[in-house]
Amino acid sequence: MSTSFLLRNGKRVFSVIGGGCRGTDALSRVHFVSRRFIIDLSYSTHFMDFKGSSIPSSMKKLVVTKLSQNFRDAVALQTVPVPTPGDGDLLVRNRFVGINASDINYSAGRYDPSVKPPFDAGFEGIGEVVGLGLSASARYTIGDTVAYFADGTVPVPAVKPEFLTLLLSGATAYIAMKRLGDLVKGETVLVTAAAGGTGQFAVQFAKQAGCHVVGTCSSNEKAGFLKTIGCDRPINYTSEDLSTTLRKEYPQGLDVVYESIGGRMFDMAVNNLANEGRLIVIGFISVYQTATGVPTVKGGTLPMKLLQKSASVRGPVSALTVHSLRMITALQTMYQHIS
Ligand SMILES: NC(=O)c1ccc[n+]([C@@H]2O[C@H](COP(=O)([O-])OP(=O)(O)OC[C@H]3O[C@@H](n4cnc5c(N)ncnc54)[C@H](OP(=O)(O)O)[C@@H]3O)[C@@H](O)[C@H]2O)c1
Repeated sequence: MSTSFLLRNGKRVFSVIGGGCRGTDALSRVHFVSRRFIIDLSYSTHFMDFKGSSIPSSMKKLVVTKLSQNFRDAVALQTVPVPTPGDGDLLVRNRFVGINASDINYSAGRYDPSVKPPFDAGFEGIGEVVGLGLSASARYTIGDTVAYFADGTVPVPAVKPEFLTLLLSGATAYIAMKRLGDLVKGETVLVTAAAGGTGQFAVQFAKQAGCHVVGTCSSNEKAGFLKTIGCDRPINYTSEDLSTTLRKEYPQGLDVVYESIGGRMFDMAVNNLANEGRLIVIGFISVYQTATGVPTVKGGTLPMKLLQKSASVRGPVSALTVHSLRMITALQTMYQHIS
């Protein structure tokens, strides 16, 4: 995708989206495009110079123009001038950007009701630095490859779509499992939406910690994929009853649940927790397209159910609000691991 993104003092202030292709947060659905030079010939008559590189004077970006639970209604594609980076800014030419559930919630006005439209859409991307301010040049230079998320940047070894998937999706799973999961070798971990963008990372981190991993999904194809990434017991809930299977095969209960569906799945996870079990709330995707976007759970009985098992509900963990240093540390660790 031909896009660029201005980061001001480490924070995004401007984003653009142009023609081309888009990376997604699910590894299996990432589309890779052949690399392009920074100079876009269609704009060659209007460009400004940053240390010899040529940058188009205009670009396209997705702007949230009204709050709506329907993302397509909420956003509009706008053509705007490419901004000039200020002292602490990086101007990044996007190669891949991620669209996540958080974008839907943000453009529906749920995450931060104080933010009123118009505002830019998008929380993460990966690309090359094509312009930067003086202070920013202490840490970065033209041509550096960087990943950025809501509140920070981190150098990446190369511009690869799989590095993008480690931002919101990967870091959420990393932080949840490392910080909130207290995983112990041999424990049983259930990951809901296990073949999804963040679930697939949770499966792998739990497996890496020596746990027995159970994953929910809705097709045999996804169950097959889950096997390939180390899931011990994929459960296709469209062909077998999840609750019955859990009670029969895991009568001692689940030590950890990575839960991102909400509603009935949340209740079922609570009911199947082991003694001292930990339920980590990641999201509630089953209700995002309802008017409120907020799940109803059997909250009244929750304290007693947890008390009976010395169990706990942890999180929600949100990659958008954890401290940026925690995100950067998580990303650096993961990038080191795979590069
Ligand atoms: N807290 C954070 O910072 C953070 C970061 C990333 C993601 N999340 C949360 O994690 C969840 C998954 O996000 P993702 O990016 O991994 O999404 P994704 O790749 O689109 O995966 C979502 C999967 O959820 C399953 N699902 C089950 N019931 C559903 C329903 N009623 N509607 C839609 N999907 C349903 C589907 O898999 P099956 O059909 O196989 O069940 C679907 O493919 C969301 O709740 C999201 O908000 C949170």
